[in-house]
Amino acid sequence: MKLVNNPPPMKGVLICGGSGTRLRPLTKVTNKSLLPVYDKPLVLYPLQTLLDAGMQDIIMITGTEHIDQIASFLGSGTEFGCHFSYKVQDEPKGIAHALSIAEEFCDGENVCAILGDNIFFENLAEKICSFQKGGHIFLKKVSDPERFGVVELQGNKVISVEEKPIKPKSNLAQTGCYLFDNRCFDVIRNLAPSARGELEITDVTKWFLEQGELCASVLQDEWIDAGTFESLHRAAIQVRARKKEVAEDAKEMGVKSVQEKATV
Ligand code: G1P
Repeated sequence: MKLVNNPPPMKGVLICGGSGTRLRPLTKVTNKSLLPVYDKPLVLYPLQTLLDAGMQDIIMITGTEHIDQIASFLGSGTEFGCHFSYKVQDEPKGIAHALSIAEEFCDGENVCAILGDNIFFENLAEKICSFQKGGHIFLKKVSDPERFGVVELQGNKVISVEEKPIKPKSNLAQTGCYLFDNRCFDVIRNLAPSARGELEITDVTKWFLEQGELCASVLQDEWIDAGTFESLHRAAIQVRARKKEVAEDAKEMGVKSVQEKATV
């Protein structure tokens, strides 16, 4: 699907880092992104978001303990019609740190970074493919904003971004899909670790906000960060319900077309 005539070249970065402590013991020997969500491993959902946008070159960033499992599951990318690369993040030093590992791979191009535990039920292809410059984030209204990066909007304009604030200024969570131009790597080089000892992706979006170059879209359809027992379970229920709906629609259409054929 080609959505714009000349989109600037872009690389995909799929970040499967972190130690998944909130999902122990499920994550004791398995990477969070390989846990099942109904009928397939979690990682295939964010991967699909990148594939839907026509991404040809994708790098997976993961911890040393799970790189072999992820690489043996995903392979070279041939099966998906594109090319996969792999790099390790030696220590869980944050999402921005994981992204910085992809600098050489991105080779001056724009970046679409996505978290390996995020499921987007909405197709982001149009926004991803039309991205040119600056930063673009995707927001979702949630009931527990303090769990996330929180974004304050005035109209369509981003006013503030805060990582897991105690008193959130809005109920809009910053989801785990980020579009940045290549300046993001210079920004990360100059970041200081946060109180939790990580290089925060929210500090990268903040930098683009300070330049007046941060845009945001609010998602209408469901989005799930499947990093907790509750949300992982909810993700499976959602996927199952949607699959059933599609299967029932297809069955109904099949019946209709058989009936139509019979009346010709
Ligand atoms: C991370 C980001 C946060 C974002 C969330 C989305 O949180 O730091 O800003 O809202 O992903 O999934 P973490 O998974 O590190 O708690």
